[in-house]
Amino acid sequence: MQLFLDTADVDAIRRYASWGVIDGVTTNPSLIARSGRVFEEVIEEICSIVDGPISAEVTALEAEGMVDEGERLAGIHPNVVVKVPLIPEGLKATKALSARGIRTNVTLCFSPTQALLAAKAGATMVSPFIGRLDDRGERGMALIEDIVTTFRAYPRITTQVLVASTRHADHVRQAMLLGADISTVPPKLLDQMVTHDLTDKGLAAFLEDWKKARTAAPQPA
Ligand code: E4P
Repeated sequence: MQLFLDTADVDAIRRYASWGVIDGVTTNPSLIARSGRVFEEVIEEICSIVDGPISAEVTALEAEGMVDEGERLAGIHPNVVVKVPLIPEGLKATKALSARGIRTNVTLCFSPTQALLAAKAGATMVSPFIGRLDDRGERGMALIEDIVTTFRAYPRITTQVLVASTRHADHVRQAMLLGADISTVPPKLLDQMVTHDLTDKGLAAFLEDWKKARTAAPQPA
């Protein structure tokens, strides 16, 4: 399963990309606004750090405006994937962008039938938001299960399932068990994923034993 870092913070992207486990980056207007920087400049910088799909979202609400924005964003770098909201105008824009060979990530998906529409419009990826469903007492992961099962049953569907709005490491564990194509990971979630108390205790014990053995044994001249 691919991991897409979910942030527009370029320092964080640089830090986590150095681990060698990041396949792409997702942003949204809220994350870009939080960076306090010019949209196009941030996207360009992210593309220079991570060599993989970089999602950049349109803000127009009409298909025509979305297509114009999408073409402009795709022109920033070949790795840009245009993020389009899952509304009727977004479906039209997805169809038009995919006809122009521009990759799309259809976002704000909250139901299996919405995901089917995104796939039929030619979306490269669809982003079901599981954390926001969990937040209101629904089971976000059930949505992933429904979409993965449906897409698997129809081999002509090539749209990738991008699990978005992940909140904790167990979301990533469940997404990979279900066979989702991609999971977003906010930076703090990567820290959670890499950390285990037994790893830390085990490493401390190994180093302690090593130090003791080195002091006890005669050292080569
Ligand atoms: C990614 O594509 C989404 O924009 C992001 O995962 C949303 O996460 P949130 O629900 O934590 O804002």
